Amino acid sequence: MVIRGGRPLSGRVEVSGAKNAVLPAIVASLLIDEPLTIGNVPDLRDVETQLALVEALGKAISRDGDTLVITGEASRAEAPEEVVSRMRASFLCLGPLLARFGEAHVPLPGGCVIGARPVDLHLEGLRRLGAEVEVCEGVVHARGRLHGGEVWLRYPSVGATEQLLLAGAVIPEPVEVVNPAREPEVMDLARLLSAMGAEISFSEDRITIQGGKLRGTGHHVIPDRIEAGTYLLAGAITGGEVEVAGARPEHLTALLVKLEECGVGIAVEGRTICLKARVPWSGVEVETAPYPGFPTDLQPQFTSFLALARGRSVIWERVFESRFGHVGELLRMGARITLQGQAILIEGVEGLRGAEVVATDIRAGAALVLAGLAAHGETRINGLDHLRRGYENIEGKLAQLGAEVWVEELNVT
Ligand code: UD1
Repeated sequence: MVIRGGRPLSGRVEVSGAKNAVLPAIVASLLIDEPLTIGNVPDLRDVETQLALVEALGKAISRDGDTLVITGEASRAEAPEEVVSRMRASFLCLGPLLARFGEAHVPLPGGCVIGARPVDLHLEGLRRLGAEVEVCEGVVHARGRLHGGEVWLRYPSVGATEQLLLAGAVIPEPVEVVNPAREPEVMDLARLLSAMGAEISFSEDRITIQGGKLRGTGHHVIPDRIEAGTYLLAGAITGGEVEVAGARPEHLTALLVKLEECGVGIAVEGRTICLKARVPWSGVEVETAPYPGFPTDLQPQFTSFLALARGRSVIWERVFESRFGHVGELLRMGARITLQGQAILIEGVEGLRGAEVVATDIRAGAALVLAGLAAHGETRINGLDHLRRGYENIEGKLAQLGAEVWVEELNVT
């Protein structure tokens, strides 16, 4: 992707459906034989990967615009390695396959390289529900009839909570998940499973799932809060004025509060967030945390924004231990950032300059796009595949806001 930076962005952009909500919803289709209809599905590489997974497991898919219909019966308990190695969210098929077949064989997941990202909480949770689990040559083999029980998560992992919700939805006794994740995408999965017939309730410290025989249903995916946040930051970092439409502002409170603390003007009108930048903006301290804390998936993009703030900023990354793939590339564009353990210290600079850089994961790529939009000169971002995994039509949406951006396909011979 090539960006000629320095133009303030202005105008309106529409948010797509949430990547991290649609991926577990697709896996939920494995729990039923009746059709599952999912609306507001974004056109993303990760969605293709998840669909390839459920197809390989026996389901059939038809698509009409942004609506998917998944039909047929799951017929295999072994997930193909070439799919699971591409994306971590595909590991969520473990619980549903085990619950349906009494056994499941799923390779350990791949995905973005942002820390160790083990799956011990997923496996411990399923063990507590009666599974025998062993890992052999990179493949997880799980067997047994699942039963109800109480699972305590030492950390409110999004993936582990979703894994247990999916499995619990077909277990005929209550499953209690103590210290669950409460991200909007987790809630969206709970809403879908409830519509399929599971009884799910939330209290202060736990989720209780009473599963049973599920039925087909229709589901409309929530808007992508991370995509919305990325476009808000694109407006802010270029000194522009943007409207992000079709969002759920209440899912973005932590970001909106921090932007206001930096001096940026924010107004919410229903499902539209209006942002008016203020130049210069001030530096702040921010710490990533599970929802409703500041999302780790906006940390790289916020780093780019703070690289141009007045004064000093600190970001503490508390969710992943090494999510700093963007920092080295931002340095090459003129940012002044030092890494200190889990913290990034940022000395704001007057300007960034375009450079040739490499996206190492989805959100690091988005951080480089933001830096490129604000930089003087031309920025060439290699590793576009990462952006395609998580951002629908990113160059089109940015161009709509007035950015000078285009994509050059490399002809490798
Ligand atoms: C999901 C999101 C990802 C987001 C993350 C945190 C999807 C598809 N991805 O990822 O975009 O950045 O939530 O909001 O929804 N952990 C363990 N053991 C486990 C599981 C996790 O130690 O079994 C640790 C991880 O290493 C990490 C932390 O828990 O340090 C958070 O991970 P988790 O919440 O599980 O994130 P994901 O579900 O992988």
